[in-house]
Amino acid sequence: MTGLNALKGRSLIEPEDFSVDEMELLFSLAENIEKDEKYLRESCRGKILAALFFEPSTRTRLSFEAAMLRLGGNCIGFAEPGSSSSSKGESLADTIRTAACYADTIVMRNPKEGSALLAKNYSLVPVINAGDGGHHHPTQTLTDLLTIKRLLGKIDTITIGFCGDLKFGRTVHSLVKALVRYNQIKMIFISPKELVLPEYIKNNLIKQNIDFIESENLENSMNDIDVLYMTRVQKERFFNEDDYIRLKDTYVLNTEKMSMAKEKMIVLHPLPRVNEISIEVDSDPRAAYFQQAKYGMYVRMALLASIQGVVTC
Ligand code: NCD
Repeated sequence: MTGLNALKGRSLIEPEDFSVDEMELLFSLAENIEKDEKYLRESCRGKILAALFFEPSTRTRLSFEAAMLRLGGNCIGFAEPGSSSSSKGESLADTIRTAACYADTIVMRNPKEGSALLAKNYSLVPVINAGDGGHHHPTQTLTDLLTIKRLLGKIDTITIGFCGDLKFGRTVHSLVKALVRYNQIKMIFISPKELVLPEYIKNNLIKQNIDFIESENLENSMNDIDVLYMTRVQKERFFNEDDYIRLKDTYVLNTEKMSMAKEKMIVLHPLPRVNEISIEVDSDPRAAYFQQAKYGMYVRMALLASIQGVVTC
């Protein structure tokens, strides 16, 4: 088993960049931080995180910034491309090379698939992918896995239902890729036929003998699911507004549907939600999406501290 010191200086572009053992060590570290919020405080004093967000974000950007500030470090960056020189025509490669002169780690969100890998190739400091188009979002995956582990006590042997926009949802793509490395995972993909999981992901699941089914109906699967992973229909990735309007409210999780679920099931959502979870569900003890947002900060603290090389275990 490798130690967390092996993460020093590493980038995180997609979930497979870290081994399962390395992710488990991050989860243990995040659990220690959760137990004692002063743990690792000041460990990143003098370190700078550059948060470069070319797309909107609430949780990812704020939790990264809060994580770095709680570790005693500082943050620079921008929350929209209009305030950076990319609006003057600067290339991503040049923006990254510049940010790497000022910061010790870069976290970037960008609408283009593959942009995070490009950034890594031009950066002299580690790059963390905070979402590259409809491709990957590996720190949301760390958040999701930690939440499942903390609330269900295990990741192996769960049945997980993914519901909503499985075509464009990068959080789904990353979580699926990470889960196949655990044991006896069953996946149920619930979406309208226009928003099914991309073929290349399904082919990988088939190749790896993963137990999965596709369905258009949420109610029918409710009773089998341990983790229900709801997602927003990704308006910004549609080519056609009419299609978005037609599909956006296909699934709405409400108390009636929750009554069909297991007593110990949990509902996750990367957020933001639009209409897909009715607010009456928020008070159900199985609704875990705001706890999930908090775990996102703990696991990002663990990640930043490990990448900076300030944890040696
Ligand atoms: C997600 C994203 O940006 O991919 N949000 C997040 O990071 N928590 C999900 C979404 O925008 O629907």
